[in-house]
Amino acid sequence: MSKELFAADVKANPETWPYAPHVLTLGSSIIREILKISSKPGVISFAGGYPGPEMFPTEEMKKAASEMIDEYKSTALQYSLSMGINQLREAIAARETSLGSPTRMENIIVTSGSQQGIDVCARTFLDPGDYIITESPTYVGALQAFNFYQARYAMVDMDRDGMLVDQVEDAIKKYHPKMIYTVSNFQNPTGITMSEERRRALVDVALKHNIPIIDDNPYGELRYAGKDVPSMKSIGGDIVISLGTFSKILAPGLRIAWMNASDKVLPIFERVKQSGDLHTNTFTQFMVYAFLKSGRLEGHIQKLIKGYGEKRNVMLREMEKNFPAELTWTKPDGGLFLWVDMPKRISGSKMLPLAIEEKVVYVYGAPFYPDGRCDNNMRLNFSHATPDTIVEGIKRLGNVIKKFMA
Ligand SMILES: Cc1ncc(COP(=O)(O)O)c(C=O)c1O
Repeated sequence: MSKELFAADVKANPETWPYAPHVLTLGSSIIREILKISSKPGVISFAGGYPGPEMFPTEEMKKAASEMIDEYKSTALQYSLSMGINQLREAIAARETSLGSPTRMENIIVTSGSQQGIDVCARTFLDPGDYIITESPTYVGALQAFNFYQARYAMVDMDRDGMLVDQVEDAIKKYHPKMIYTVSNFQNPTGITMSEERRRALVDVALKHNIPIIDDNPYGELRYAGKDVPSMKSIGGDIVISLGTFSKILAPGLRIAWMNASDKVLPIFERVKQSGDLHTNTFTQFMVYAFLKSGRLEGHIQKLIKGYGEKRNVMLREMEKNFPAELTWTKPDGGLFLWVDMPKRISGSKMLPLAIEEKVVYVYGAPFYPDGRCDNNMRLNFSHATPDTIVEGIKRLGNVIKKFMA
């Protein structure tokens, strides 16, 4: 290469590099595309799964950060163990135990978001073409992660008590799935919580066939109404790999989450994670640990429960007032989302441009189904907007739906 040439003048053809074919088939996330629209001025967004920005404990985090740097000094800036820093693993294990699942530090690996926990499960269990049992609909980010490994899906229908576990055994016999993926608490996207009876039945069938259940549980602590249901982990023990995260109960930008699994599988997860990112961000692990140690988290969660519970009530009340009678929707006892069913002839994706014109956005149903089988739905988030904005946004959305249905 001539010394006279600047790097900017060197032209190659990245378009024709020998990409792995399956990478080229990956779709971009429709939700991320919709979120780009959400950031335009005047647009009211019910699309993302974002916590309310007013809820972040910024002052307390500032304090935790400075206390942490004073106490741990350069250790907080150093490389650290792939399993996560021991102080945080211990603190997470103690919280899991207090929430009903007896857990030791040896059961916990810290991950970069529970999205990485999903990815680690996929990398650990899946060969191209393998099946996974999922709820129908299910979390779109899990589908994105599983799609990367060319997974196939045995989808199980849901009702208001969660996954129809009766369908699971047939699906196991037919598809020999590598794992069962569920969001058992206040599911994303529907807000539905699996009943205790179904949880016990799912554990029974998983144990009978020795198939791990991945219980993705970012919302379990955000309950605004109704009675607690025992967690999948507390019922299923070692057959359950549970994924927890500080994203929704503290701050998603920290990217601190965990997997709680049998100590027999943890060393495998450790190697799989290590090959991907060596370890989770040491600095934010120490920050979360300092926040936990100071005892500030529990009060913060109570504040979230109050704030999000109110927002949920406002959204449900305004939907009742503004949405046509032909529509039905879930009334979740917790979490961040509710799910709207529209008449079959109404396409949520075709209605979206009209909603964008009226400056309100939502996510339509299709991306939550691996085969896009259903489009007459909307997922609405109630944690991000303020109560006043929810009132205005639901009014706009009600008008859009009425116009579109006319
Ligand atoms: C069900 C579910 N799993 C995982 C995630 C990802 O969370 P994290 O920020 O911990 O990666 C989300 C985020 O919305 C989610 O809803």
